[in-house]
Amino acid sequence: MMTLMNMPAAIRWVVRIFAGALALGLITFGWYATRPGPFAFAGGRPVALANYAGHPTGTPQDFKEADPIARGRYLAQAADCEACHTRPGGVPFAGGLGFKTPFGTLYSPNITPDTRTGIGAWSDADFLKAVHEGIGRGGKRLYPAFPYASYTYLTDEDVLAIKAFLFSLPPVESVAPASELTFPYNQRWLMKFWSALFNPQRRFAPLADHSAEWNRGAYLVEALGHCGDCHTPRNRLQALDNTNKFSGTVIEGWRAYNITADPATGVGAWSDSGLADYLARGHAAPHGTASGPMAQVVDLSLSRLTPGDIGAIVTYLRSIPAVVSTDLPAVRREAAPASAAQGVPATLDPRGKAIYAGDCASCHTWTGVNPLEARASLIGSRSVNDPSAVNVVQAILRGSQRPAVSGTMFMPAFGAAHNDGEIAAVANYVTARFGARASSVSETDVRALRAASAHAE
Ligand code: HEC
Ligand code: HEC
Ligand code: HEC
Repeated sequence: MMTLMNMPAAIRWVVRIFAGALALGLITFGWYATRPGPFAFAGGRPVALANYAGHPTGTPQDFKEADPIARGRYLAQAADCEACHTRPGGVPFAGGLGFKTPFGTLYSPNITPDTRTGIGAWSDADFLKAVHEGIGRGGKRLYPAFPYASYTYLTDEDVLAIKAFLFSLPPVESVAPASELTFPYNQRWLMKFWSALFNPQRRFAPLADHSAEWNRGAYLVEALGHCGDCHTPRNRLQALDNTNKFSGTVIEGWRAYNITADPATGVGAWSDSGLADYLARGHAAPHGTASGPMAQVVDLSLSRLTPGDIGAIVTYLRSIPAVVSTDLPAVRREAAPASAAQGVPATLDPRGKAIYAGDCASCHTWTGVNPLEARASLIGSRSVNDPSAVNVVQAILRGSQRPAVSGTMFMPAFGAAHNDGEIAAVANYVTARFGARASSVSETDVRALRAASAHAE
């Protein structure tokens, strides 16, 4: 028999490399397969839903409408299906929103009940398979841009309530553009392996030793609200890294900040009512206002939840272990001087101040506190205290992108009014004047952030 030693050298190397690759593959598989799930940090003993006394799933007890369609709508809002399945200016749920990925563009499909171009012909079983397993009708594997690895925790009852709501909408005839992904990412069947590793394919089981409110919060945050999809960093295979759960990451060109219990760089120092206000209204007095993707989450989803559900989310967030974001300073609390002549070093690019005076000071004032419209106060906002200035640049380029601005003042877009160098100058001026540490964004950084929009226009 031929042993490794008496093989020709070249073959020996091939065998070694192959064996090495196989071992590495198995180790990686083992490591990924045993990686912590979203509830791992909490410890505790999961019990079957039927054996649990509280009501962690379904609509909350302070939601009074008994109509099943209204209940389905509530759950669809808590899951924010509309945000991804609507293109700008398009009919809600009719799809066509483009998702830019490093591998090309993917479009969300029409999920109105049109039988030809939407999901009107889908059975309950088809719909459950898509939402829980990421498998479309006819076995088509879906990409995890559709957060089914979170929705897999939803009960069958809740998924079917969402379906009943979607089927109550007027059918819209609309075909989303075909996705334009490069090889090998255009091979949908590969998602079979992704799912085997990263979709827990498991329904929510409450933890017996946690309160009913905590369990409701867990269901809202992990299953419906899929907060981790934006706030948890990802590994190389685009799966959530729960060892750094909710410690923040850049998503869709914006930075979704650390929402762990760390007092300096997370939300540990926020009061319960401050956190609840931010989630329910997109603004909390000393912490600033939600913009970009978070403004959408607030407007389309969290602002529609009952006070009881917002309270449950706060309770759950409080239990997330603190992780420190080492690149973030503690937030500055004192206002800037009222005089435009003071407050920033003289070495700053003078274009920053000139643009701020012309375009910004009327709403944001020279102190950074707007006594008439608290939403426009910049002092205390995390984005202004982030020396990478990612969200400051995005807010200036694109405005706050709020879908449901209703009579209130909002942040307009200045991306078309100024070139990249000017945007960099005003962003650096804002962080220097109002933040804990000045940013040094360059023209090139702004160019990259302009390209890093979430959605294909
Ligand atoms: C973060 C964005 C996002 C959210 C939130 C989202 N979806 Fe999707 N969904 C997508 C994308 C993108 C696809 C297409 C995936 C693909 O082509 O592989 C998709 C696909 C689907 C499909 C498959 C349709 C088909 O024709 O194959 C269904 C059904 C669906 N989503 C329903 C829902 C429901 C119900 C919700 C809310 C509970 C929801 N989606 C929330 C992005 C999202
Ligand atoms: C689509 C992506 C996305 C989703 C989903 C999302 N967030 Fe956010 N979140 C962001 C971004 C981006 C910011 C920063 C907004 C800004 O700077 O104005 C943010 C900011 C926040 C903040 C303020 C942090 C700070 O220090 O200012 C809190 C709290 C928060 N999110 C909680 C949540 C919770 C709870 C959920 C789930 C119910 C959630 N987010 C879901 C993207 C998201
Ligand atoms: C019409 C009033 C108005 C003008 C003009 C305006 N802003 Fe804003 N800005 C707002 C409001 C209101 C918000 C809070 C988000 C929202 O609700 O739209 C905001 C938010 C911001 C944020 C915070 C984003 C975040 O996520 O925390 C920054 C930074 C900002 N503006 C900078 C600027 C700069 C720089 C200019 C000038 C180039 C400017 N704004 C012009 C009203 C304005």
